[in-house]
Order: sequence, then structure tokens, then C-alpha cells
Amino acid sequence: MKTDFSVLILAAGEGTRMKSALPKVLHPVSGVPMLLKVLDTVRGLRPKSVGIVAGSGADEVKKAVGSFPGLTWILQKERKGSGHAVKQASSWIRRGASSAPHLMVLCGDAPLIKAETLRALHEAHLKAGNAATALSAKVANPLGYGRIEKDDFGRVKRIVEEKDASPAQRGIREVNSGVYFFDAAKLLQALTELKNDNAKKEFYLTDVIEILDKKGFKAASVVSANGIGETVGINSRADLAAAQGQDQQDILAGWMKEGVTVFSPATTYVDARARIGKDSVLLPGTMIMGSTVIGEGSTIGPNAYIEDSKIGGGCTVRASFVYGATVEDDVNIGPFTHIRQGSLVKKGARVGNFSEVKKSVLGKGAKVSHLSYVGDAEIGDDVNVGAGVITCNFDGVNKHKTVIGRKTFVGSNVNLVAPVTVGEGSVIGAGSTITENVPAHSLALARPFQIVKKNWVKNKKRKKS
Ligand code: UD1
Ligand code: MG
Repeated sequence: MKTDFSVLILAAGEGTRMKSALPKVLHPVSGVPMLLKVLDTVRGLRPKSVGIVAGSGADEVKKAVGSFPGLTWILQKERKGSGHAVKQASSWIRRGASSAPHLMVLCGDAPLIKAETLRALHEAHLKAGNAATALSAKVANPLGYGRIEKDDFGRVKRIVEEKDASPAQRGIREVNSGVYFFDAAKLLQALTELKNDNAKKEFYLTDVIEILDKKGFKAASVVSANGIGETVGINSRADLAAAQGQDQQDILAGWMKEGVTVFSPATTYVDARARIGKDSVLLPGTMIMGSTVIGEGSTIGPNAYIEDSKIGGGCTVRASFVYGATVEDDVNIGPFTHIRQGSLVKKGARVGNFSEVKKSVLGKGAKVSHLSYVGDAEIGDDVNVGAGVITCNFDGVNKHKTVIGRKTFVGSNVNLVAPVTVGEGSVIGAGSTITENVPAHSLALARPFQIVKKNWVKNKKRKKS
């Protein structure tokens, strides 16, 4: 794409219908705030510069976006319509017009727009030498959208908003998507003539089309090849759910194309930032959240939740929660396992059945197979942690560390009272409460010894009778 244009994103809307403390454009779709999604797409087209009109929750919106070269914020103090919003950016548009004569305008609350669609719009705009080119869509039900009114030669005469349209105009099925390319200098001229004599008493951006047409400049529309879907704006939680559903279809289709099996797309969620290796299988009820990376040939689910974690290849994660963790290749997790923040599970290890691992390292081939809590621990390679083992890492005030050397066998129901170190190759007898360090290659037993009284029960019964 030629760098002859800048981009203006309208993001000042109040989003009243979201009923939210969070500004509308910061609500995430597939894990990414919708404004950032739009920004990602437009920045991929390498515009000369980017302006964002903010209003409602401007400070929070600015903070979420951060800064990048070529970004300018424009504040719209009072919301008086989309035309008024663009007008606030007039001096920014004027400054940019000398180096980038065209301006793309789009909305911050329509996050599904695709780069290829914007490229096609840009190309058509330049090729026809239009003063304005609107992206449109042909729909069965045009309710709520501005209608594109054309003459016999296909020129757009005006865009009429639903509330201002005559019955005949309401019948028009080609609708305005809210994405446009303008000749920046001509747009600036038209903006000065905008009026708010309409049903909503707003300054409509769409009115610049008629103003330009009357001046003899050419306005046209490009019908989106993908229908209205990708331009759909989000106004309510229901819209948000619908948009995310649509986005998920695209994301999952993308991974399937890359060789990932998705058993049940309807019950699988993958964040826009996540990555999945080929021949991996996502079973029903799987949520891949945040910037999770999954290697090749891993099976995830059913019912697995993985967030901001790195999972290697050849792993299984069944019915478990994993977040903020690194899991190397060939690891088996679950069912019913909780791997928490800061954990590293090394190659070939296994953590299963009602076990929890927090901020710990599990060595290569280590096994924590049943009902254990491992917190703030360093477990060496090939250690076997028996059923019901607990690292007592918290003394009520501070957290302490447990270190277990390689090839140690920890029997069932052992309490390891941290801070404590068990040397390599040792054996800890079942049921022990270990409070002192254990040297390498030793047996440690810390439990009451068994008492057996032969025939005790029999004798007691005899006495009674
Ligand atoms: C707008 C179009 C309509 C089109 C529809 C597509 C106008 C007048 N109409 O209608 O033709 O079919 O989008 O979704 O533009 N905004 C501001 N400041 C304001 C008002 C709006 O920044 O004072 C922003 C909004 O955040 C939004 C965009 O402008 O991103 C469009 O405004 P909105 O009120 O949603 O217009 P629609 O009625 O949806
Ligand atoms: Mg809208």
C-alpha cells in the first residue's frame, strides 16, 4: 500500500448501552481491546500518521493505547456527532495533508475490519480519483444504517441516516459501513459547511458526501466483498458477544488452516495473541487465553483453561487450569490439576489428579501424580512425589522454599515443612513430617512407629462375655 494517506479513528462515543465503567473501545474482543485491534489492522497498512479522536474516558483510552511514532490524540470535549468529531481534527488533517493527501476515517468500535478490505477501498479510491469513497455493504435488513443513495451512473449523491430517511430511501439495501477514504483537502472544505439540521441534531460525517457532490466532486462507494459482518459496530454487550463469536470463527479457521484440529469450534476459545503448533488438538471446552504458546502435537482439553503460558510439544493438558507457567515437551497435566504463576514443568514430567503446583520447578521426568500441593519448591529430575504430599511453604507470615534433589522418592502423605532440603537419591517414608534437612542417599522417617498388640480385640471380646 502506498503511504499517501493518514488514518483518523473515531473513538469518542460514550458507549452508554454497554453499561460499563470501562470505555467502550477498551472492551476486549478475543482478548484484545477493540481499539487496539483496529489500530493493529490499520498500522499494518503503514499509514503516514494516525489520529485518534477520544472523548469519553479519554485518559484511560490513552493509557491503554500507549504511544507510537506518528500518533496524535484529538480531544472531542462534547459529543455532537461523527462530523463534529472529524472537525475537531481539522488542524491535524491540514498539517498532514501536505505529505499524505488522503485520509482514511474509521470507527474504533468496529474491530473486525480486515486489512484486505481497507486495501481494496484505498485502491478503488485512488483509481477512480474520488473525493470520497465509502465502504458499503448490501444487506437484507438495512435497519439502523445510513443508506447509500446513488444516481444512474453509480455516483453516490448522499448518505441518508435512518432517522432522516424517506420511506423510499429506507428501502435502499446498500448501507454505509462507517469506513471512508477522503481527499483530505476536499474533506476539510466540506467540513466547514456541515450543519446539524437533522433528526438527531448532530453534525453527521455522512453529510460531507452530499456537500462534495454539490461542489462537483466525485463520491463513490465500494461494496465490501465480505458483507457487513466485518464492519459491524459494537454498541451493546450482545453486539460484543456476536462480534467475538465471529472473530473466534476466523481465528479457529486460521489455526485449522495451519494444521490444528479443533473438535468443537463452538466450545473452543483462542485469544487473538495465542499461537498453536501444527498437529495439536483442541478438545471441547478449551480456552487458550492471553499470549499462550502451544507447541506441535499437543492435546489440550477437554475442559482446559490455559492463560499466558508456554506449553511444549507432545503434551497433554486435560481438564486443568494452567496460567503464567512454562511447560516443556512431553509433559502430561491433569485431569483436575492447577499449575500456577511462575511454575516450570520440565520435559517428560507429569502432574495429575487434584494436584496444585505454585511457583515451583518440577525437574525432567518428575511425577506429582495424585492429590499434592507443591509450592515454592524445586523438585529435581526423576523425583517421585507420592500421593498426598504437601510442601508446607507458609508459616503464617512468610513463604519458604522446599528443595528436593534428583531421583528422590517421597512417600505418600509426607509433609515437607519449609525451609527444608532433601538431598538427591533419598527416600522419605510415607506419612513423615520432615522438619530437618535430609542428606543425600538417606532414608528419612518421621512418624510414630506402629504398635501391634496381638489378639487384642479377641481378648477384649472374651472378657466381656
Ligand atoms: C454511523 C453512520 C451511518 C453508518 C453507521 C455504521 C454517521 C452520521 N452515520 O452511524 O451512516 O451506517 O455509522 O455503523 O456517521 N463518534 C464520535 N463523536 C461523536 C459521535 C460519534 O467520536 O460525537 C464516533 C463514535 O464513537 C463511532 C462513530 O463516530 O465510532 C460513528 O458514530 P455513531 O454514533 O456510532 O453513528 P451511527 O449512528 O452508528
Ligand atoms: Mg455506530
